[in-house]
Amino acid sequence: MNKKIPHKINFPKIGDSSTGYISVAEASKNVPFDVKRVYWTYFTPESIERGGHAHINLEQILVAVSGTIKLKIETSEGEIFDFTLDSPDIGVFVPKKSWRTMKYSHNAVQMCIASIEYDEKDYIRYYKEFKNEKFN
Ligand code: TYD
Repeated sequence: MNKKIPHKINFPKIGDSSTGYISVAEASKNVPFDVKRVYWTYFTPESIERGGHAHINLEQILVAVSGTIKLKIETSEGEIFDFTLDSPDIGVFVPKKSWRTMKYSHNAVQMCIASIEYDEKDYIRYYKEFKNEKFN
């Protein structure tokens, strides 16, 4: 797994339509980092774009546990990836040093599985700064 390239992760989907399903994310199995924390975003108005930042060290997996999320990721090499998350058994790995924006359907709940603790100093919040940054 190339941790510099954004990519989808298919979580196991245990069960069937008669009973419902369980999906599982496990550090070192289908999550390519040690999970430090999990948080979730919800009730985001459809008119709002969230994100608009990069992280220096944080790696994440985003999952639409409900609803639909349109996710755009620009890597530090300038490559752009577009994802539509609309199934709770699918996640997207967001590499460190990548710029991301997200738009949500009215019923979307975004779960974020994160590799490090929240630290405002880990954010790059200005796109110009992101483009000028010499990542190594
Ligand atoms: P941010 O990471 O910018 O959210 P998004 O990428 O979804 O747009 O965080 C939004 C605000 O919440 C920002 O002021 C930082 C704050 N915040 C915390 O206080 N604790 C946290 O764990 C997170 C993730 C954000």
